[in-house]
Amino acid sequence: QGNRDLSGKRVLISAGGTREYLDPVRFIGNPSTGKMGLALAQAALHRGAQVTLVHCPASWDVPLGVEAISVISADQMQQVMLERLPNADIIIMSAAVADVKPKDYSTEKLPKRSLPESLPLAPVPDIVAEIGNRKQPHQYLIGFAAQTGDIITPAKEKLQRKKLDAIVANPIDKVGSGFGSDNNQAVFLDKEGREVEIPACSKLEMAHYLFDFVV
Ligand code: C5P
Repeated sequence: QGNRDLSGKRVLISAGGTREYLDPVRFIGNPSTGKMGLALAQAALHRGAQVTLVHCPASWDVPLGVEAISVISADQMQQVMLERLPNADIIIMSAAVADVKPKDYSTEKLPKRSLPESLPLAPVPDIVAEIGNRKQPHQYLIGFAAQTGDIITPAKEKLQRKKLDAIVANPIDKVGSGFGSDNNQAVFLDKEGREVEIPACSKLEMAHYLFDFVV
């Protein structure tokens, strides 16, 4: 029953918010819960795909039938994603990757009084851009762009710069969308110039709209 239009396809999804630890108890992170990635995994599974979900610490259970690999930092996520890349047909980067990490890591918990007033930072790898450079012609790469204000211009710029096939532009300053919400709204854009606006709906519906858009 239902639409099995992803049957035989291998879908690789990144989800959640990466964490960049300063010491064993403190990290730089973001409020992503990974629910959009979870919804994408559910939708892809339902449509007959073989699904791998590379996810950051999350409060939900991975659906039965989905291969899950848990990671914490952007470096770990990059390593796993690149390892899995050759076996994927559709790659969806829904993870919110921290853009920076603390330059140094202390294996001992730093005492409060010795915390520096300003923290030296180092960049983390841009995972989706690396995948954009490595991907084969048969592979389809989808990125996300969470934005406030004008969501279209930065999404178009990211689509090109990161060599994506499509991008989901997400307003995170609208009620009932974005981080932690069960709902979402978005504009889908692709490299052929298609542009489709998806009104507020559940993240699972959004996931199905996205597969309808790319299949
Ligand atoms: O540049 P920005 O973080 O807005 O780009 C969003 C897209 O790039 C998302 O698909 C996100 O998963 C991906 N990204 C990444 N590695 C980073 C930063 C973002 O894969 N270091």
